[in-house]
Amino acid sequence: MDMDHLIEAIKKLKQEKNALILGHYYQKGEIQEIADFVGDSLALAQWAAKTEADIIVMCGVHFMGETAKVLCPQKKVLVPDMAAGCSLADSCPADRFAEFVHAHPDHTVISYVNTTAAVKALTDVVVTSTNARQIVESFPQDEKIIFGPDRNLGGYINAMTGRHMLLWDGACHVHEQFSVEKIVELKKQYPQALVLAHPECKSVVLKLADVVGSTAALLKYAVAHPEHTYIVATEAGILHEMQKKCPDTLFLPAPPNDSTCGCNECSFMRLNTLEKLYDCLLNESPEITVDPEVAAKAVRPIQRMLEISAKLGL
Ligand code: 13P
Repeated sequence: MDMDHLIEAIKKLKQEKNALILGHYYQKGEIQEIADFVGDSLALAQWAAKTEADIIVMCGVHFMGETAKVLCPQKKVLVPDMAAGCSLADSCPADRFAEFVHAHPDHTVISYVNTTAAVKALTDVVVTSTNARQIVESFPQDEKIIFGPDRNLGGYINAMTGRHMLLWDGACHVHEQFSVEKIVELKKQYPQALVLAHPECKSVVLKLADVVGSTAALLKYAVAHPEHTYIVATEAGILHEMQKKCPDTLFLPAPPNDSTCGCNECSFMRLNTLEKLYDCLLNESPEITVDPEVAAKAVRPIQRMLEISAKLGL
């Protein structure tokens, strides 16, 4: 099937099956274009929670599909490629996280959404990069907190709030790769450029940043200030929406340490293709399943996040 027919066939199947296609900003451009909604991790969870569709197709990575399934156990949640995982979620196996939690019984457990449902089941409240700081700050200053699994996001929040949260030692392989030296070189070429960085980046990169925020926050900043040039230190998929919203703005992807590896692209996110999206709608497979006992525990901290976010107007 050529591209135009493929797109038409996906749209037709979507309508026939009353399906909703959700896409993360890190997806390939053609997937973002066909999605009903494109957003950051928080927005994807919010849309999943309120949709009336019978089927949700989550174009992102596995934990995003799991979060949707936990929120909507009666719905069919499909993913174009079951192998689309997450290095950050993988850096926090549930059995080891359980030991960490049990070793600190007087601590509140705050987990980043980039975790398996089994880790969420051990958690008091889930956060995304859009609401993490505000949710942490909603607890008293002296609250003892475990924050996992991203040591960079956790360290950033500790630095911003003066807290001493205990951090799990995990990281995202894409955000860990940005090179301070190469960003400084790029700044010499484009001295007026502002650096936009996701808080999953290392602290040395965040120190260079003019704006630190989630994908949605970085996009919002660029849209509000299209007159600048930007060096963008997050997964390069976000450039699609940035360029679409600000066609005359120059966006430069921040270079990774090894420029031959293309590692400012998440190989898991890129596994999703239009062909696989078509197949998954046609066959209603691969389908995300979550153990009902795990889901019953995992839903509470996700709902708590959605409730706090709604109160904060996020
Ligand atoms: P946000 O979607 O919260 O910006 O985080 C990006 C990410 O880590 C997705 O895996």
